[in-house]
Amino acid sequence: MKRFSLIIFIAFTVAFLTSCGKENTESDEPGLLLGFSQIGSESAWRIGNTLDIETAAEQSGINLMFENANQKQENQIAAIRKFIAYKVDVIAFSPIVEDGWDNVLEEAKDAGIPVILVDRDISTDKTDLTSCLIGADFYREGYMAGEYLIRKVDSLGLDHVNIAEITGTVNSTPMRQRQAGFMDAIAGDPRMTVIESIDGDFLKSRGAENMRHLLETYGDTIDVIFSHNDEMTLGAIPEIENAGFVPGKDMIIISIDGGQEAIDVLKAGKINCIVECTPKLGKLLMDTAAKLKAGEPVLSVIHPEEQVFSDEQDTSQIAPRGY
Ligand code: AHR
Repeated sequence: MKRFSLIIFIAFTVAFLTSCGKENTESDEPGLLLGFSQIGSESAWRIGNTLDIETAAEQSGINLMFENANQKQENQIAAIRKFIAYKVDVIAFSPIVEDGWDNVLEEAKDAGIPVILVDRDISTDKTDLTSCLIGADFYREGYMAGEYLIRKVDSLGLDHVNIAEITGTVNSTPMRQRQAGFMDAIAGDPRMTVIESIDGDFLKSRGAENMRHLLETYGDTIDVIFSHNDEMTLGAIPEIENAGFVPGKDMIIISIDGGQEAIDVLKAGKINCIVECTPKLGKLLMDTAAKLKAGEPVLSVIHPEEQVFSDEQDTSQIAPRGY
């Protein structure tokens, strides 16, 4: 009997030590290393997006190698090369423009590192350079802006409006697709005339500069400003006021993003409509990166849910935006 107990004791001890060894090996495994190249800090949206990605990485236990490209494509290309050299598990980046990524993405592919596009898309003839895109449906955003304008013109009983468009960075996905969606939405409506589309590069300073140009050129014949982001809208509004017009009344103001500062201006009646573009892509990014590291399949396009905020609703009920 004593010998039997000793055998049982030895068997349990061996099993315990073996299992401890196994657990140690697993916990020693390096975590996921994600390299992320951000475009820059051009807007409240972008700053909110960076913060959301950093927070999500921390909460998911993912090691984030973050590089800010300060609005330069060459800096993004250099960052991706750095991620390859560091042998990160997954690369993610928000391409500032759509063209010019083939070579560096071929290098990532040759290194066997999956690439996630965040926020914006690329344009390429090659296949398999990226695993997926996590970002807004920019075409739908532009389309919803156009649909709002039609409803607004209906409600005011106007028979004609002159529209000035201040666009985002030329050759970027949100610029191309927001413009296409907006133009498609208003295309069949003979009351709509686009008098000028002007590049504001998603920057507040350019929104102001462009608005001064538009006011000098077209004066009180401007009925509508369609601005591709809040930052440019917030730059344009003081210029409209300085010229003696009342934004939201003398001109219909339509914006995109939905950051807190612009929502406050909407509540004050100086913006009529803001189509939401959420910067909160961090959790989706971390979940997708983890799946790619584990070799699991991922959806090729992931769009977050978005809504429209406008003077058609009780704007006092809009919850704090968090960016
Ligand atoms: O790509 C998303 C756009 O980029 C946001 O609308 C804009 O504010 C940002 O700079």
